[in-house]
Amino acid sequence: MTEALSFIHRFEKGTDQAARPLLLLHGTGGDENDLVPLGRMVAPDTPLLSPRGKVLENGMPRFFRRLAEGVFDEDDVRRRANELADFVVEACKQYGIAAPIALGYSNGANTAAATLLLRPGVLAGAILLRATLPLSQPPSTDLAGVPVLILSGAHDPMMSPQGADRLASVLQHDGAVVEHRTLPSGHELSQADVSLAQQWLNASHSWAREAQARNP
Ligand code: MLT
Repeated sequence: MTEALSFIHRFEKGTDQAARPLLLLHGTGGDENDLVPLGRMVAPDTPLLSPRGKVLENGMPRFFRRLAEGVFDEDDVRRRANELADFVVEACKQYGIAAPIALGYSNGANTAAATLLLRPGVLAGAILLRATLPLSQPPSTDLAGVPVLILSGAHDPMMSPQGADRLASVLQHDGAVVEHRTLPSGHELSQADVSLAQQWLNASHSWAREAQARNP
């Protein structure tokens, strides 16, 4: 763990420095250590960058303020997504890594979605686990070709299916290549999340390599 840069965070080099890094964004009450095992399962060799959310709700770290469960302080969403994006840019320079793919869970997934919408170009893509649309008036953004995987839980009491559907259609409208799957689970993660995230990541890597070969 290090406190340098603007967020307390953990950075794991991985064994393949050239691989696309993952930005790990934890859920409410988590910290920079939480998603490292998941990140390693999904991408065994890649660099992992894992910040701790700066907002405290009854002592529990989060990435932005909420007024009640599912009711977000949208000014704070915007401010914090920009702050996180600045950190990601700084950290990529400091550690010599490329723009990462976010792997976010719950509040972290919503934060990744806000970052995609507000700061296009900072993230190379995103895996959004149990996400919703975090902004009621999302800006129109250029996300052409950015790969996004959204995994929702059919019985998730915290994230409505409509919220995830709206998120998927907003991102698609902005040009992102969105795959949205709904799993037979709740808000908690399952082995299916891990397997689907792994498969998606491998497919999006080979897709990116092919695109690079076509347009070197
Ligand atoms: C959020 O606040 O982003 C969502 O309600 C999920 C959560 O509680 O983390």
